[in-house]
Amino acid sequence: MDVPVVTSQTISVEVNGTTYEREVESRRLLIHLLRDDLDLTGSHVGCDTGNCGACSVIFDGTLVKSCMLLAVQADGASIETVEGLAEEDELTQLQQAFRDHHALQCGYCTPGMLMSATALLRESPRPSDEEIAKALQGNICRCTGYWNIVKAVKAASGQEVAE
Ligand code: FES
Ligand code: FES
Repeated sequence: MDVPVVTSQTISVEVNGTTYEREVESRRLLIHLLRDDLDLTGSHVGCDTGNCGACSVIFDGTLVKSCMLLAVQADGASIETVEGLAEEDELTQLQQAFRDHHALQCGYCTPGMLMSATALLRESPRPSDEEIAKALQGNICRCTGYWNIVKAVKAASGQEVAE
């Protein structure tokens, strides 16, 4: 039986405004490029099968699950990860709202939640509860029960939330 050949190629990818060139195997997943090659460990791996959303990043303006893409597909792309949200030590309104509304406990899902919610707020600056729930349906949280996350997203959009 022939052993399949794993090829490599050099890619250039912009992440949070910095351009990186790396040689990657054709089978390498984008999440592993981010975490292991670029040391951007904010994006998490919860399942590796596209179910949990912990690895969510924004890829050329579109929310994606980075365990569902190959690193070579990012050649020439511009990616935003959770590390790129805060300016210096200044949290974004969304990050501050997560903090204020206790929208995280263990924090494992939080980077993915923040990226999904960031993508939502760009598209819909004052989302309804239903829109928020729909936008976050691909992100699993086993701690919070979700309601505080919905409240935080709503608060970040400048809407009143019931405490
Ligand atoms: S690690 Fe990508 S969806 Fe779970
Ligand atoms: S805060 Fe623990 S999984 Fe969401």
